[in-house]
Amino acid sequence: MNVTIFGSGYVGLVTGACLAEVGNNVMCVDVDPAKIDLLNSGGIPIYEPGLDEMVQRNREAGRLTFTIDAKEGVDHGLFQFIAVGTPPDEDGSADLQYVLAVARSIAEHMTEYKVVIDKSTVPVGTADKVREAAREVLDKRGVTTEFDVVSNPEFLKEGAAIDDFMRPDRIVIGTDNPRTTELPRALYTPFNRNHDRLVAMDIHSAELTKYAANAMLATKISFMNELSRIAEAVGADIEHVRIGIGSDPRIGYHFIYPGCGYGGSCFPKDVKALAQTSKQYNVDPVLLDAVEEVNAEQKEVLFHKIKKHFGDLNGLTLAIWGLAFKPNTDDMREASSRVLMEKLWDAGAKVRAYDPVAAEEAERIYGNRDDLCLCEDSDDALTDADALVIVTEWQQFRSPDFAAIKDKLKQPVIFDGRNMYEPEQLEEHGLTYYAIGRPTVG
Ligand SMILES: NC(=O)c1ccc[n+]([C@@H]2O[C@H](COP(=O)([O-])OP(=O)(O)OC[C@H]3O[C@@H](n4cnc5c(N)ncnc54)[C@H](O)[C@@H]3O)[C@@H](O)[C@H]2O)c1
Repeated sequence: MNVTIFGSGYVGLVTGACLAEVGNNVMCVDVDPAKIDLLNSGGIPIYEPGLDEMVQRNREAGRLTFTIDAKEGVDHGLFQFIAVGTPPDEDGSADLQYVLAVARSIAEHMTEYKVVIDKSTVPVGTADKVREAAREVLDKRGVTTEFDVVSNPEFLKEGAAIDDFMRPDRIVIGTDNPRTTELPRALYTPFNRNHDRLVAMDIHSAELTKYAANAMLATKISFMNELSRIAEAVGADIEHVRIGIGSDPRIGYHFIYPGCGYGGSCFPKDVKALAQTSKQYNVDPVLLDAVEEVNAEQKEVLFHKIKKHFGDLNGLTLAIWGLAFKPNTDDMREASSRVLMEKLWDAGAKVRAYDPVAAEEAERIYGNRDDLCLCEDSDDALTDADALVIVTEWQQFRSPDFAAIKDKLKQPVIFDGRNMYEPEQLEEHGLTYYAIGRPTVG
């Protein structure tokens, strides 16, 4: 089948590569010429495990092409995916300007029937707006060409995006009539072989399902983070509590890890956007607002622990392991590392940071500054550092040489925002260890 995808970011590029991998002819359209040039010359603009090889393979086979020419894209595909960003507006609601711009450009160039599939995360009612925006342009052109609008929210996780797309938990398809569901159903058949994962529903429910999923996951995290504060206050260990509650199958072990806050391009903006939609419809989002509030405070927890330990931070150097908002990605959008570094800089401290893949992204965000050194490896980050702070739970940080860390740090202190180690083990090594919701040792 011929497929066009508007937006070649984390979602668009993964969707394009995976749809090409199963034999479709995919054209990716983006407004960023540098991104398209890079993709056309064999490069890749983001880090996502396995994506590089998949893009190359399908590009070389001629099944995956890249362009900035919207007309070429509209001519190409029966399916027109919208996978552009929906960043938060000033009030937290989703900014739909990019989604609606794509809707208009599809209508501008359309000469035959198209299925417009919204894959961006968008508030309830957006499919109606997409339809209206496209219809307006078609009316202006004096054209009566038919099109359908489908909501097909994406549930992939950065860092495991290809696997999630190739073996989805569910494929949500929202349409305004069951007949329209059949076309996307056919497109998704290769990903739906083992058992039927396609969940067909009305468009509004599909749009809300995506927000509901992210809000639920964010709620679990904020719940555990609040509980970790209670654990610290009463002298309990949140890790024991986590295991104690996770063993209940009604609760489960997934997504109940306490830490230094959730980040990324999705949870923070989607929780805020859902709260905003809720307010627009006069439903008070008490829980959603609290989830965000707890998270905003949690992103400052490491800084407060560091400040409490050292007092004046002016002139200190902190080694930071992990900058990405989670492992296996270079994405630093809303990352906890950013809140921490910015607070440390305001307090006059310097940072020596190491991340396996996000250094380039950090440089893009912060440029060259005297108080930030982006280090080649985790060991180098410890050089002349007063203490170590762990912000992202990369696999390679799981069992470091604690004796070497102790030797290298000016003060033998670790602040762990992801509870990666056992306090007793660090105590044996003579390290002071601060974790989240656990008793401090050393
Ligand atoms: N990143 C994730 O893990 C994830 C997961 C599920 C859903 N989503 C949702 O998917 C959407 C896209 O997210 P992302 O992380 O891929 O964003 P992104 O910022 O990585 O990519 C968006 C791309 O769209 C391009 N673009 C903007 N306007 C365009 C236009 N008019 N025509 C063509 N291209 C245009 C931008 O240049 C950019 O390359 C968002 O709504 C997001 O909430 C993201």
